[in-house]
Amino acid sequence: MDFMLMSFLLCPFFITITSGQDTVCSRPELGANIAVDGLQKYFNPGAMLALSCEQGHTAVLGPRTIVCTASGHWTKSRLMCIPKLCPPPDHLANGEVYYENTVYQSLINYTCHEGYILTGAVSGVCQANGTWSTRVPECKPVSCGLAPIPQFGMIIYDKTIRGNTTQYGITGTYKCLPPYAVVGSARAECTASGTWTETPKCQVVTCPPPGNIDNGYKSSDIQRQYDYMEAVKYGCHGDYVLEGSLQIVCEKNGNWSEMPSCKRPCSVGIQRGRILYRGEKVWIENLKPKKVLHKEIVSLYCKDQFRNCGHAVTTQCVDGTLIIPGCFEEPSSVSYTLHSHELPSEIEPC
Ligand SMILES: *[C@@H]1O[C@H](CO)[C@@H](O)[C@H](O)[C@H]1NC(C)=O
Ligand SMILES: *[C@@H]1O[C@H](CO)[C@@H](O)[C@H](O)[C@H]1NC(C)=O
Ligand SMILES: *[C@@H]1O[C@H](CO)[C@@H](O)[C@H](O)[C@H]1NC(C)=O
Ligand SMILES: *[C@@H]1O[C@H](CO)[C@@H](O)[C@H](O)[C@H]1NC(C)=O
Repeated sequence: MDFMLMSFLLCPFFITITSGQDTVCSRPELGANIAVDGLQKYFNPGAMLALSCEQGHTAVLGPRTIVCTASGHWTKSRLMCIPKLCPPPDHLANGEVYYENTVYQSLINYTCHEGYILTGAVSGVCQANGTWSTRVPECKPVSCGLAPIPQFGMIIYDKTIRGNTTQYGITGTYKCLPPYAVVGSARAECTASGTWTETPKCQVVTCPPPGNIDNGYKSSDIQRQYDYMEAVKYGCHGDYVLEGSLQIVCEKNGNWSEMPSCKRPCSVGIQRGRILYRGEKVWIENLKPKKVLHKEIVSLYCKDQFRNCGHAVTTQCVDGTLIIPGCFEEPSSVSYTLHSHELPSEIEPC
């Protein structure tokens, strides 16, 4: 109304035109984010309206005023209101920044990597004046303090520790002074929650007297309890071969480590023939004693009838059993004594 009054005072000509007509402008339809003051619905020709941008938006192009013309239409305005942009946020060391956009009202979230604690704001929003509502927070490493030590025990850290704080991810191994053994997990770690993994206990551990092995002997025959980490050695009699570990150790669970065993030698089950043994060709009657040891490899000779040549076929002694290859043919006494040069072991090798 003030405006109309002003028009009346300044421009009498204007009044004369409008007074003769009923034409008015209805409230203008405006582009996105453009605002006008007041709630007035109809305007007389000559009325001027100031356009502005809604908050968080910046005006581009112009003009920023429109006028109601005599024909009841508003003059054109190319005014556009574009949302304000916040600056790209700073990088967050040891954490992540999440945002989809940097326009007015965009949300921004911050998280820290595992083992880091966030100090500051967790989230923020791009404000009307183009600034973020919160500063980028800090991600500080979690700290655990020194690991608790069990009685009769100690911890060996995998890295040198300075002072009395340890950071997330620091690891170590617990040891107990014998005869105490670590009961629980020997490995320790400063976890993401700032606490150490469970502390094991150091307990006295004993093992029962160790057992005997067939065809063998042990280094100690005393019937007593053995301490944690104590060891007993084993050996085999004669031609028996020890398989497994040479000694057993009293373990932290009060059991012995796995016992070895003594494996039997094998006899070579042929009467006549020549074998390849320990890199030499040996006539079987010259093999003394007439046996090979567990795990040893022996080759026998077979004949390739088609090509008329001889080839070696290997077999292995396994705990008293030596399988003679199926292709081996034992010669008769006559051919063995009189025609030994025709045996597969003597003819041209394949
Ligand atoms: C920020 O976190 C809120 C709540 O967890 C979620 O709704 C929003 O989508 C997140 N915003 C972004 C940009 O990740
Ligand atoms: C931006 O707006 C916020 C909230 O109104 C205010 O706290 C802050 O000081 C403003 N920043 C600038 C640079 O004007
Ligand atoms: C860490 O060591 C300092 C200096 O030796 C001592 O004053 C402080 O109490 C210790 N803090 C903890 C948690 O043990
Ligand atoms: C110790 O050995 C016994 C007998 O072999 C077995 O039953 C037991 O589970 C073992 N104990 C542990 C802790 O391994």
